[in-house]
Amino acid sequence: MIHILAIDQGTTSSRAIVFDTKLNPVASAQKEFPQHFPASGWVEHDALDLWVSVAGVARAAVEKAGLHAADIAAIGITNQRETTLLWDRKTGQPLHRAIVWQDRRTAALCDRLKAEGHEPMISARTGLLLDPYFSGTKLKWLLDNVDGARARAQAGELAFGTVDSWLIWNLTGGKRHVTDATNAARTLLYNIAENRWDDEICALLGIPMALLPEVRDCAGDFGMTRADLFGREIPILGVAGDQQAATVGQACFAPGMMKSTYGTGCFALLNTGVDMVPSSNRLLTTIAYRLNGRTTYALEGSIFIAGAVVQWLRDGLKIIRDAAETQPLAEAADPSQELLLVPAFTGLGAPYWRPECRGAIFGLTRNSGPAEFARAALESVGFQTRDLLEAMRADWPAAAEGVLRVDGGMVASDWTMQFLADILGAPVDRPRVTETTALGAGYLAGLAAGLCPDPDSFAQDWALERRFLPEMAQERRQHRYARWQKAVQATIAAAAP
Ligand code: G3P
Repeated sequence: MIHILAIDQGTTSSRAIVFDTKLNPVASAQKEFPQHFPASGWVEHDALDLWVSVAGVARAAVEKAGLHAADIAAIGITNQRETTLLWDRKTGQPLHRAIVWQDRRTAALCDRLKAEGHEPMISARTGLLLDPYFSGTKLKWLLDNVDGARARAQAGELAFGTVDSWLIWNLTGGKRHVTDATNAARTLLYNIAENRWDDEICALLGIPMALLPEVRDCAGDFGMTRADLFGREIPILGVAGDQQAATVGQACFAPGMMKSTYGTGCFALLNTGVDMVPSSNRLLTTIAYRLNGRTTYALEGSIFIAGAVVQWLRDGLKIIRDAAETQPLAEAADPSQELLLVPAFTGLGAPYWRPECRGAIFGLTRNSGPAEFARAALESVGFQTRDLLEAMRADWPAAAEGVLRVDGGMVASDWTMQFLADILGAPVDRPRVTETTALGAGYLAGLAAGLCPDPDSFAQDWALERRFLPEMAQERRQHRYARWQKAVQATIAAAAP
């Protein structure tokens, strides 16, 4: 009874899924944990909440599957990316709460570095932009603001890691300080062309290299778990950042294939093969995966608010109790109103990169109510995806013919997926398994364990559940998108000092 355990440590919850060797999900467990917002634009997670919730759901999923540790051949880990942790190598104690990828506290530092002209050099090496999104400036903030941290870092007493590193450190009882190439690629400190930590960028940010984890391929040896956690040691054999794991889970292995995942945010990745394609349109160049020392690159568009806009309808506006209520509300909206919501709650991501922006709504009338808000919220996800696709088409013209494979919680809504196809003017494919993030992590671990087939055979098993074809008239599509673009520009203008 051999199985694979996939751990998916996300922005709002930790999940674990047990897969059989054919990668069918057998059992799962999930736990939400608190979000901390200590100041406007700041977002933190308690590092121990991340670890304790992961340990809990991992054990619960194995138990629910009716299995024992001896039945688990391998563990795969996938995680929210960029979130930054710093801990004591001796005690394993975190020095601060984790600074979450959404956190904007280093916006002024990024502006200063841009004004000093560092962005082209950083971009050419890391594929990223000078935005607070990435780990590098968050780590600098920790070293500058936690008492004694810099001196202790220089003395080699501390370890930095993204969430994968932190989890592996804890799973292995402090024996391994490692990460994988996809997570390293999101730190702003990793040279993705040469596959090494970049000493010049580290020096620019004042980051001692003794802090950094060892970088490994996505499928391979990441250490053994402590025996007491599951009753026996289990090898950790797969690791990838969640968006890259979803790219693997969606079997986007050929250049030109792209996927978009709708979780808290939305992240679209376009496989560009062995070519590291620089973006002229403010997208990111990133590592899609690294297998057997061979790097496959992607262009990525990242938007910060997708599923989170539905959470806002529920927790902020309190006009729904459950995400599933959004679709019937949107369907009931007055067709004559064209409310536009720009959900820049934590700034705008790709392709605008304006951390100072905040959300805006346009076109309100006295008749605007919950239904119109719900429709505007769902449509904002489609409009933002169109922004990403436009940039991808401009950077890599072959993307124009592409089909978009979608996954994540929001894709359950047929209405949202139809609007997406309509506004993109491109087919949208929803797979049978939409748990693609965990599936990707499970596959990587299974690949390293010799339990799963090579990527080509895995790709043949990818199964379509439904294709959404564009139905909107071209003229209407252009009209609606042009209004969205104006709304974004007005939002940017409103944030100007
Ligand atoms: O880059 C941030 C991303 O990895 C977070 O993903 O699914 O937690 O919204 P998610």
